Amino acid sequence: MSRPLKFGHRGAKGYVAENTVESILKAIELGVDGIEIDVHKCKSGELVVFHDFTVDRITNGTGEISSFTLKELKGLMVLDHYQIPTLIEVLDAIDRKCILNIELKGKGTASKTVGLIENYIEKHNWNYNDFIVSSFKNEEIGAVFSINKKIPLGVLIESNFDKAIVFAKSINAVAIHPDYTMLTKENVEEAQAEGFNINTWTVNTPQAIKRMKSYNVNAIISDFPDRL
Ligand code: G3P
Ligand code: CA
Repeated sequence: MSRPLKFGHRGAKGYVAENTVESILKAIELGVDGIEIDVHKCKSGELVVFHDFTVDRITNGTGEISSFTLKELKGLMVLDHYQIPTLIEVLDAIDRKCILNIELKGKGTASKTVGLIENYIEKHNWNYNDFIVSSFKNEEIGAVFSINKKIPLGVLIESNFDKAIVFAKSINAVAIHPDYTMLTKENVEEAQAEGFNINTWTVNTPQAIKRMKSYNVNAIISDFPDRL
């Protein structure tokens, strides 16, 4: 895989409704090296792939995602046309065709995510390198680290590079995942010199993509992965 790796954001959000199986299949069709998705835990305990903490913005329902059972979530329509998938459905759709970056968005998502990753490694031929688990929530990726030290981890940040590097070292993370607007050539080089990959998001315009490439980042996460 040549650098920077091309990652589809929430599947291929620029083309098909975010975080749906159809969006993931579109990203694969576009030839991505990886796909980023968001996970929450719903009321009945399953991990579901969805970005927001409420279902209001892109479904015909209203309320907090954690207050719905899986059956109830499956009864909602995403942008009139799609269903909210479980993490299992997404793993099966990807079927090792690319790396899966699981962002732990909701609270209490770490242990079930680790369980699923271990299951897909043991029973479905996936490898640890097929996964990156990232989060803005230090307690969630910290929990992943304490359960299984082999899972590649990424620390998501919108500010404060130095603090992120200190935390990333403490959990043996492989990567920092910064908002691209906070990157400079210098801070990318510094983080890489400390041994971290820089996987940046959400880079959509040709100018920003060109600049990130000039910084030699390790991966770019985009709503339009075919532009990378
Ligand atoms: O994981 C990168 C990016 O998706 C983080 O921001 O809000 O799009 O989940 P957000
Ligand atoms: Ca995300």
